[in-house]
Amino acid sequence: MHKRIINKLICPNSQSKQLQVHAIEALRNNNIIHNIYDENILPDDDIKTGFIFSTDKKYIYFIYEYIPILLNDQDQDSAHLNQIYEWIKNSIPDEFKDAVTANILRIRKANESTDGNWNREEMKYYDAAVDTPQLRDKMLNSIQRENLWRIFIPRKEKMINHFETNCKGQWIFEIGCGNARTVARMFNPETFNYNYIGTDISFKRLMVAKMAIPGSDFIQASALNIPIKNNSFNGAISFGMLHHLPRPAEAVTEVNKKLLQGAIFSYHEPVYTSRQFSEKQSAIVRKVFRTYDHSDHDNKINLKESLAALKEANHQIVSIVPYNSVFRVVFEAIINRFYKSWQKSKLVMKSVLIIDNILLKTIVRLSNKLGPQAIIVVSKKL
Ligand SMILES: C[S@@+](CC[C@H](N)C(=O)[O-])C[C@H]1O[C@@H](n2cnc3c(N)ncnc32)[C@H](O)[C@@H]1O
Repeated sequence: MHKRIINKLICPNSQSKQLQVHAIEALRNNNIIHNIYDENILPDDDIKTGFIFSTDKKYIYFIYEYIPILLNDQDQDSAHLNQIYEWIKNSIPDEFKDAVTANILRIRKANESTDGNWNREEMKYYDAAVDTPQLRDKMLNSIQRENLWRIFIPRKEKMINHFETNCKGQWIFEIGCGNARTVARMFNPETFNYNYIGTDISFKRLMVAKMAIPGSDFIQASALNIPIKNNSFNGAISFGMLHHLPRPAEAVTEVNKKLLQGAIFSYHEPVYTSRQFSEKQSAIVRKVFRTYDHSDHDNKINLKESLAALKEANHQIVSIVPYNSVFRVVFEAIINRFYKSWQKSKLVMKSVLIIDNILLKTIVRLSNKLGPQAIIVVSKKL
């Protein structure tokens, strides 16, 4: 975590803005330096190991592998925290030792909450696929090489275009960034010269994200409790994550708090519509045509509710683009089975999206059962 972002963060337990940072190890001009106190850390130092602390030292949050764990007590994963504590405990300066121990004990005793359990299930699921350095390297390699045009094209054309024009020097955050593949490939902060913070509940996905975009910052945080200062960001973006939450509309409200007037928020999500497959039919479609894995909390969002949350937050809808993911999934399943490399062709994937659009405007209109199954929403805070 670069020291420069500390002024953008708040404590996820107390919401306090008075945070400081201690670096056990920090990267400065490609060299690792050790044990630096807050006042001696430079804005561009990237803290590899250390902790963020509230001025009274009541709340302490570890930074490990450049990623601060900014979760409230109920959301923390004690096993992960204990592991990090074991690795760093001998390097913690004496004046912080008692406070760190008190924090670990408090978190261990924290009451279980439904959201906390839900979040830990998500962490576990998304951590598992990148549990080892080898698996993380493999995922990094795939992010860097694989052209996922089926998601890159609509995200670039219908979402990122709204941010690109004026983004220089601005602050934009992502919720549920996972390995940050779309941003790394289509809206790289290093190319577009803006400040990006990626947040996700899965620590290990964030490790991959940090390898993909080393100049940016990634925070382990819940989308329902975003540890970012209110009214401080010029934009927020989210790709396929709201539908993993117990209450997606609440995240819309939470994101809005962090945004400045005029900021753009955009998300890409599967939606419940009035014209819906039954649960049983959906399960069959997913089983037969499933092309990628999702956690048990994979759901759909209620578009009406999330639009109402945007309206409540004084957002003006800039655009809502529908997609028919049923057609896309069927198509992908077929090409995956017969000729996977077609999926890497921008032209083929662009054609799929065009056919999808034609189907949406014709057959889907006449059917009670088909889409639109996914949408891209762009809104502006008034
Ligand atoms: C389907 S993945 C999408 C990842 C990424 N946005 C992409 O396009 O590849 C859903 C992501 O949501 C994250 N997630 C689930 N619950 C979350 C929560 N409460 N707060 C933040 N992220 C969460 C998961 O860890 C996972 O990375």
